[in-house]
Amino acid sequence: MLINNDTIVKDSDPIIRTKSKKVKLPLSEKDASLLRDMLQYVKDSTDKEKAKKYNLRPAVGISAIQVGVPKRMMAVVVDDVDKNGELVHYEYMLVNAKIVSESAQPAYLSSGEGCLSVVNDHPGYVVRKARVTVEAYDLASDKMISIRARGYLAIVLQHELDHFDGRLFYDRIDKKNPMKKVDGALVI
Ligand code: CO
Repeated sequence: MLINNDTIVKDSDPIIRTKSKKVKLPLSEKDASLLRDMLQYVKDSTDKEKAKKYNLRPAVGISAIQVGVPKRMMAVVVDDVDKNGELVHYEYMLVNAKIVSESAQPAYLSSGEGCLSVVNDHPGYVVRKARVTVEAYDLASDKMISIRARGYLAIVLQHELDHFDGRLFYDRIDKKNPMKKVDGALVI
C-alpha cells in the first residue's frame, strides 16, 4: 500500500475515530504485507532524502487505522537510551497489542505529542503511564512477545494503542490547563 502524507487519514475524517478490530492469527499475507509497509513508512520517514522525495512526515509509530484499515496493528521504531545510558533501538510490528500491567506513576513528554493524523498544533501535556507491559504478536520476531517499556517507548506504545480505540493524543490534554504540572510524574 502506498503510504504518504496524502494517503494518511487525518483527524478531520471520522474514520480515525473507529475502534479497530482484533486481527486473526496467523496473519494473512495481506495483513502481513500492510504491516510491513507501515514499518517501512516509519523507517523511511526519518530519512531526510526519502521523506522529501516520497512526501513522508517523520514518525516513530503508525497504526493501521491511520491508513484507513480498522485492525489492531501498529509499527513502531524508537531510539532511546536505557538506564545505563546505552543507545537502544526498538523495532516492532505488533498485532492485537494490549496493556497487561501499568505503573501508577504518570508520565508525559515535556514537548507534548504529535501525530501523523493531526495537522493542527495541540500544545499541552499528554498524561500517560510511566511504565507499561504490552503483550502482542510481533511480526518482526514472528512470535508472541511481552514488552516491558518505560519512558519514551512506553509513551509511544500508549499513543499507538489509543489509535486502536479511536483516541487521539489531544483527547488526553487538560482543556482548562494544558500545561498543568502532574505530581510525581515522570517528565520525559
Ligand atoms: Co498518532
